[in-house]
Amino acid sequence: MNFSLREAFGVKSPLRIPPSPLLPPRFMFLEVNKRCNLKCQHCDFWHRTDDDRDNYLPVAGRQALIAEFAALSPRGNVVICGGEPMLDLEDYFSLTRACRENGVRALSVVNGTRIRNASVAERVMLEGPHEISISLNSPDQAQHDETRGVRGAFKKAVNALRLLIEARERVGASTKIYVMGLIFGGNYRSIDRFYDLVLNEIGADKLKLNFLQPVFGQMGQVDPFFESQGAVDPEELARILKACDVKYGLGFNPYWLEQVEMYFRSLNAATDRDRGWASSGATESHICNSYDRNIMVNHYGVARLCFANKFPSATFRAPGDLRRFWTTSEKIRADMRKCNQFCGISHSVRRESSTLVGRQKMLDFQAGETALMQSSDATFAFASSLRALARFHRKPD
Ligand SMILES: C[S@@+](CC[C@H](N)C(=O)[O-])C[C@H]1O[C@@H](n2cnc3c(N)ncnc32)[C@H](O)[C@@H]1O
Ligand code: SF4
Repeated sequence: MNFSLREAFGVKSPLRIPPSPLLPPRFMFLEVNKRCNLKCQHCDFWHRTDDDRDNYLPVAGRQALIAEFAALSPRGNVVICGGEPMLDLEDYFSLTRACRENGVRALSVVNGTRIRNASVAERVMLEGPHEISISLNSPDQAQHDETRGVRGAFKKAVNALRLLIEARERVGASTKIYVMGLIFGGNYRSIDRFYDLVLNEIGADKLKLNFLQPVFGQMGQVDPFFESQGAVDPEELARILKACDVKYGLGFNPYWLEQVEMYFRSLNAATDRDRGWASSGATESHICNSYDRNIMVNHYGVARLCFANKFPSATFRAPGDLRRFWTTSEKIRADMRKCNQFCGISHSVRRESSTLVGRQKMLDFQAGETALMQSSDATFAFASSLRALARFHRKPD
């Protein structure tokens, strides 16, 4: 993208996000369970069970993790993940309550099937996450149900959104209610209708766009869904997104738009896309910064700096482990800075936010935390890793 187009988008913040010293993590992802009640073609959670739940970090351990994360990053966010996290409703609410009690924001993405009546919707408003996203695969019922593998899934998801919006109104909550839309070959030409459904017909606060990656949890060596549905014309997609930006006043971040286009160009260039995660393909450039902002903790209390298993991990056993892992992982970060796996496009790990407002929030977080570190004795805990990090910081693209 040329500079004048960026100016046309009104980008006032730095052209490239400046390197920052190691700051507290902005997000901790915490898994509730592995199983699921839908059968999405792009995900394998529904093949898994929670039969080994005796080995999971108990809820009390996860609450302790939240407390430690809140101390490490008081302005941080906890993302409650699954499987379908709302299949274990009491565990789900015990974690969102722990976030509220510790003063950190809780976010979660759910498939909507467990928000079936006004009382659950009200409970979400009163003790659930501060931001809840319901996943939709399409503005079309048939396409959503087909790709989510269960008839009736679309109606349940839309009903959940309506129940949440009504409950928010009734109880006067400030919970954000979003849709997490999955974009792939079969639906990218419907993005305009997707916005119309979500923003105008349903009245949710935002449609977040999430682009197809290889099947989550792919076990074998083939990924037919990714092969067929990864076929997106990057330039046409960019035109559609820019038109929606103007029509719905979305405030897209032009760097993100560039990266989305680049992502699908990279998928088209991969000669073995049918192998999914096993593909030899990669994104043209490095677009992830998970290692600078995220800690992912799975069911067993194993912490990583992104979702991929290929980088080293540490197991949370006692208070202090989370901080230690975060501040002593420079070697892992150095390796991750060279990683161009397809998951870099995920909203959970990519460096660029989809909107300029989101980008500014991230810059504000960096600036606020940097100022705090400079003025606080707490800096000490980060100081050695900060010096090490300075050596590793990548040059701007
Ligand atoms: C793994 S699900 C877990 C939460 C819940 N079960 C749901 O579907 O919302 C979280 C998000 O990941 C998305 N997802 C699953 N498989 C994906 C893939 N292969 N590529 C991109 N996003 C995917 C889902 O659409 C969903 O929005
Ligand atoms: S994407 Fe969500 S709803 Fe679909 S199978 Fe995976 S965990 Fe279940």
